[in-house]
Amino acid sequence: MVAILSRPTLRHMPLETLDLTATDEGIAQAAAVLRAGGLVAMPTETVYGLAGDACNGTAVARIFAAKGRPQFNPLIVHVADMAQARRIAQFSPEAEAVARAFWPGALTLVLPLAEGAGLSPLVTAGLETVAVRMPAHPVAQRLIRAFGGPLAAPSANPSGKVSPTTAAHVRAGLSGRIEAILDAGPCSVGVESTILAMDDPPRLLRPGGIPAEALEAMLGPLPDAAHAAPDRPTAPGQLASHYAPEAPVRLGVARPAGGELWVGFGPACPGADLTLSPAGDLVEAAANLFSILRKADDLATARGAPAIAFAPIPDHGLGRAINDRLRRAAAPRPVATP
Ligand code: TXA
Ligand code: MG
Repeated sequence: MVAILSRPTLRHMPLETLDLTATDEGIAQAAAVLRAGGLVAMPTETVYGLAGDACNGTAVARIFAAKGRPQFNPLIVHVADMAQARRIAQFSPEAEAVARAFWPGALTLVLPLAEGAGLSPLVTAGLETVAVRMPAHPVAQRLIRAFGGPLAAPSANPSGKVSPTTAAHVRAGLSGRIEAILDAGPCSVGVESTILAMDDPPRLLRPGGIPAEALEAMLGPLPDAAHAAPDRPTAPGQLASHYAPEAPVRLGVARPAGGELWVGFGPACPGADLTLSPAGDLVEAAANLFSILRKADDLATARGAPAIAFAPIPDHGLGRAINDRLRRAAAPRPVATP
């Protein structure tokens, strides 16, 4: 009984989830689905996003329902160009400069909401700020333009699970719950965008695909707000357990113990079952991270391994985002409540 109640409620019959390819026709079909209030899994350079019309409250509500996501979490709004961005958010001169330097790309800016933005309040969870991102992926760009407006898109995975970096990952998690998946192959960056709140001074809310050092070169030292207030989540990383595989996860393991499944990094991990990057390249490791987490979980289950053990990852550049995600994966799991 408890197990049934704790599962997200499916209020509708399962949908037929369309597989679309990134051709002109596939993109036009995806845009039509979005205009009708439907949900499309959209490729971006970071991870696949679950996109819906950011101005349509029903579409946005369906995003939360499809993910089984807690409603207090506001969503990132995706735009194709600065004109669209300025219609929904206010840019200080400093925010303009950051956008010019890092957009399009793996950076999300939290900015004051523009007057008359027209976004569903569900997107911002009622906040006076909005998280905006201009993705660099050409298919995301084409889809946003074909649709003609801003798209709300969290990562296209069930809430609390590993983010998807291929269309097959999306299908495994959300098939039957969304209208379409637009397949453009694997994501090149592989971890979510860095989230920067353009407060005075700016604050790093989530490490991600743009290294914090690159932002700091422009803005000066950034206090890491990601671990500052674990009881009041403002970015998804602040939820205690996130990106959780089924098997327990151990970090910083130079030598695995007792049948653990060992995930290596770099050449100094002989005999590792899997590796994030044989050469020890953080960019390659980020691109592989979520696929490897899934593979490791499957292998650990198949073998009855007591845990997944990760070799130490240097904590600079994209390593900060990787370690942040791995800490979430290793965090104590929330106890299921009825
Ligand atoms: O790479 C990415 O960022 C991917 C792709 C699809 O773009 N998207 C993604 O979205 O990771 P999501 O929804 O999983 O993470 C967005 C997070 C929210 O959980 C929230 O904590 C934070 O951004 N956020 C959104 N609006 C905010 C706001 N107004 N203030 C502070 N944080 C906000
Ligand atoms: Mg997510």
